[in-house]
Amino acid sequence: MDETFKLTMYLHIVLVGIVLILAILNYFLINNSLDYDTLRKKVRTILPIYYLFLATVIFTGLVLLGIAKFNISQSVIFMIIVWFVLLLTTIKRYKKFKSLKRDDKRRIGRFIKFTKRKHLIDIIFILVTIVLVYVVK
Ligand code: HEM
Repeated sequence: MDETFKLTMYLHIVLVGIVLILAILNYFLINNSLDYDTLRKKVRTILPIYYLFLATVIFTGLVLLGIAKFNISQSVIFMIIVWFVLLLTTIKRYKKFKSLKRDDKRRIGRFIKFTKRKHLIDIIFILVTIVLVYVVK
């Protein structure tokens, strides 16, 4: 059981790291210099990958919780809140993305601004969570 916990913990941390890398990539890859088609292509490629890794983070987190007999600590509550913030803002971003139109430059500009801000917040939240988890421990 201990080995399973250790392995799942390792996976959980690696997957959190991948989400962090994807957030950083998104922050730098989406910018005002992109034309409409490249922007669509980039968002359509990275978005499902982001969802996938968010899902694997909660999956491994739930496995860890199960092994620990659902002993929910303060840091786990914080992780779950952060996870939901990441998910909900990603859904909001997708809604904005769906409403984009090729010739509506203002809306595209607003979407890029939202994407930048969202991913910067994701990066900060993930880093703060990692630091807090180790400080609270
Ligand atoms: C983006 C969000 C998350 C981040 C940044 C994060 C980060 C971490 C980190 C760094 C650890 C390692 C702690 C250690 O080495 O002691 C950890 C452990 C853990 N995580 Fe997460 N996690 C996140 C989401 C979740 C979610 C959604 C769940 C549950 C559904 C979860 C459940 C757990 C559990 C149960 C542990 C083991 C805690 C312990 O025994 O001390 N995490 N997480």
